[in-house]
Amino acid sequence: MPAASKIKSVTRPFPKPGESPARAAKPDTRLLDAEQFLLPTYKRQPVVMTHGRGAYVYDASGKKYLDFLGGIAVNALGHAHPRIVKVIRREAARAIHVSNLYHNAFQGPLARKLAAWSGLNRAFFSNSGTEAIDGAMKLARLYGRQPDEPAGTAAKKQRFLALENSFHGRTFGAISVTSTEKYRLPFGPVVPGAEFIRFNDVADLESKFDDTVCAILLEAIQGEGGIYPVSEAFWNRARELATKHDALLIADEIQCGLGRTGRYFGCQKFSSKPDIVLVAKPLAAGLPLGAILTTEAVASRVSPGMHGTTLGGGPLACAVALEFLSVVEGQELLENIRVRGAELREGLAKLAAKFSFIREIRGEGLMIGVELTVEGAPFVAEAMRRGLLINCTHDFTLRLLPPFIITRAQVREFLRLFELVLATTSRQAAAPVSGKSANPQRVARAAAR
Ligand SMILES: Cc1ncc(COP(=O)(O)O)c(C=O)c1O
Repeated sequence: MPAASKIKSVTRPFPKPGESPARAAKPDTRLLDAEQFLLPTYKRQPVVMTHGRGAYVYDASGKKYLDFLGGIAVNALGHAHPRIVKVIRREAARAIHVSNLYHNAFQGPLARKLAAWSGLNRAFFSNSGTEAIDGAMKLARLYGRQPDEPAGTAAKKQRFLALENSFHGRTFGAISVTSTEKYRLPFGPVVPGAEFIRFNDVADLESKFDDTVCAILLEAIQGEGGIYPVSEAFWNRARELATKHDALLIADEIQCGLGRTGRYFGCQKFSSKPDIVLVAKPLAAGLPLGAILTTEAVASRVSPGMHGTTLGGGPLACAVALEFLSVVEGQELLENIRVRGAELREGLAKLAAKFSFIREIRGEGLMIGVELTVEGAPFVAEAMRRGLLINCTHDFTLRLLPPFIITRAQVREFLRLFELVLATTSRQAAAPVSGKSANPQRVARAAAR
């Protein structure tokens, strides 16, 4: 097998003639197995992470990392949070899974809690964010189908609108509303009827919205796209047009929701509300769980058998989610998110004054993007070498998604490490001022001229 032979030559499992066995690189069989048996879907760092505590993660060699990525917005309470561990221990010994043919003790109460947070009274639990997206797209088609359009015919209201630079997941529905071509084009044809609007461009929104639209999907702050906040004017106009054309406004809060911005949901800063809110990532503190939250009006179109899942909403995941929400609910943690976020942005602004290759700092709460004029990947690698986890999205934006529990001292530790990383990383390739990786606001302005 080519993969196995490649890894052998890279890791040199056996000493060369004359070399002492102790000096030869020892292959990690877990890496060998991964290389040989997994689909090559990820560009992974060659380390095995074994455990974590609070805002720190440790690899198999015992090296400690300050985790400012948080499993890409999943480990919002850090690692091994005592209240989460306690619930997992307790419930794992009782019932990990109970079929959705029956009730479990936590799904109803979790739906009630999420209704209190969101003002949306009906919930469906999925296993992931992308499944929540696909489920919401199905609901939008269902809601848009008129009484004189029997099932089996193509509904008149079938178009989905989404934003340029959006990311909504990896299943077929989700990739069809994800603008980044490399995620979508290799799998065509995708779900028909999706169109992309220029970022925050109200005129483009107005020109594309009509009675054939069943839903518009928006992230209040684009995450994978590079931490770009949707404007109040754009959001409110999307709301007005959705109401006018009887379409649904779907808020993808999978990355920016559940406290990340210092509010329950990113879109709560806007004066108008969505019809559907989607959450996942941190909901069950690292166990797979997502949710579609919606109105009675949408729920009234659903009947048994139309949608479902085997694993989604199981008792263990729902019990953990209830605990997660109750930890976040205390205003103290939301306040910590806002205060630590402000400290981070203040420190980053000082670094931007010092390092001219920092182009812009964006974000809210603990969702921050540091856009560079140079490739971000070498900075991620250098940060890791120095014991700091961050990542890079859209080639030029370093993304910070630290856990909600970080302390003032950890913010200082981050800024100290990050300054060293900025000072010592060799810089590569200037970022384009237009094109796929460029700032969508700048591209939109350029297009408007
Ligand atoms: C905004 C947004 N929507 C949807 C998804 C897909 O979620 P999942 O990876 O759980 O399927 C992601 C994942 O990164 C996301 O950031």
